[in-house]
Amino acid sequence: MSKVLIIGAGGVGKVVAYKCASVPEIFSEILLASRTLSKCQNIASGIGGNKIKTAKVDADNVPELVALMNKFKPDIVINVALPYQDLTIMDACLQAHVNYLDTANYEPKDVAKFEYKWQWAYNDKFKEAGLIAILGCGFDPGVTGVYTAYAKKHHFDELHYLDIVDCNAGDHGKSFATNFNPEINIREITQRGKYWENNKWIETEPLEIHRPIDYPEVGPKESYLLYHEELESIVRNFPSLKRARFWMTFSQNYITHLHVLENVGMTSIKPVIYNGMEIVPLQFLKAVLPEPSSLGKNYTGQTSIGCIIKGIKDGKEKKYFIYNNCNHAECYKETKSQGISYTTGVPAMTGAMMYLTGKWQGKGVLNTENFDPDPFLEALNKYGLPWHEKFDVELT
Ligand SMILES: NC(=O)c1ccc[n+]([C@@H]2O[C@H](COP(=O)([O-])OP(=O)(O)OC[C@H]3O[C@@H](n4cnc5c(N)ncnc54)[C@H](OP(=O)(O)O)[C@@H]3O)[C@@H](O)[C@H]2O)c1
Repeated sequence: MSKVLIIGAGGVGKVVAYKCASVPEIFSEILLASRTLSKCQNIASGIGGNKIKTAKVDADNVPELVALMNKFKPDIVINVALPYQDLTIMDACLQAHVNYLDTANYEPKDVAKFEYKWQWAYNDKFKEAGLIAILGCGFDPGVTGVYTAYAKKHHFDELHYLDIVDCNAGDHGKSFATNFNPEINIREITQRGKYWENNKWIETEPLEIHRPIDYPEVGPKESYLLYHEELESIVRNFPSLKRARFWMTFSQNYITHLHVLENVGMTSIKPVIYNGMEIVPLQFLKAVLPEPSSLGKNYTGQTSIGCIIKGIKDGKEKKYFIYNNCNHAECYKETKSQGISYTTGVPAMTGAMMYLTGKWQGKGVLNTENFDPDPFLEALNKYGLPWHEKFDVELT
């Protein structure tokens, strides 16, 4: 019997709320708080049965967060607002003595750059307070770290090569939309690419390296090498890795729209003056694009995300692939949400459940690969993201 505070009533927050409400024996009291109260209320009334309380909070404002936490007294906060709010929410958790979990690492608003260093720097403070902060507990990051830990625990003596492969073979029927917050998504994709090889990071032009990858039940899809945040923690936690890369699929239509938007300056985060007012082009673009939470209704197709790993077991080379496929329409039936929100929200709920049931323990700031992967993967099978394994496949 525990109290959970969910912050952020967007696409992911909605799934977290639905999933927590479906396990009342663990999440006995749920408070959903966000900047726009009506979004919390809509989600709560969609779930029904007075299962969810709602509140308005500005997560950039530490005293406001502390007041809310002191009033509700949650056992854990699930932060599914934006990466910009990670540090203020962590500060508030320290002040109100509450455990913390998020799905994306901190990013300053004025520089399109994400790194764990800002949040890892809180390790001593959380340890001294006897609290846990679980970072990056969505699908990628999140499940991908757990998959890697599972591979190491059960299938390898040494991991050598890791390719995280992320395919969305779904169709939402819009000309152009992003599956999670457009501002965060476009900042991520328009960055320079980066991967780990032979003990150093190698940088590429944005979306410079691409090739078809054959995804289970989907087939070959053009996949683009991106820098993704879990590479930083996985490389640190599995130092035997000789190479670690992240690949994501984009349709030609998506790439064409993105290029046009970039070429006309709409993806810039530098403020411009418009009608005497300062606006950030990317924030304006977000305002005119569909909200990720609105995409679910007519979404068809599926996602396929996994880890392809090569390494050594008992002196012999071994190849291993662990993955999940998730159907958008099924997600909508269950939670009125599309698959990207679902594949992020289910692991966030599951990570909180691991902590609340004592299956994941620890103090300080930790990433998902730092914990025992077995109970988490068992729970994913039960709560909507079953995983599969293949051996000796040649995928990249
Ligand atoms: N690890 C993964 O696999 C993964 C995958 C996808 C997304 N994510 C992460 O999940 C998070 C949520 O994504 P999403 O798609 O749900 O985004 P979203 O639909 O844009 O939702 C974000 C929500 O946060 C709220 N919010 C923003 N600033 C706030 C503030 N200062 N105070 C209170 N609430 C605030 C927004 O409120 P308003 O509606 O009022 O603006 C919105 O409801 C992001 O951090 C994203 O990077 C992780």
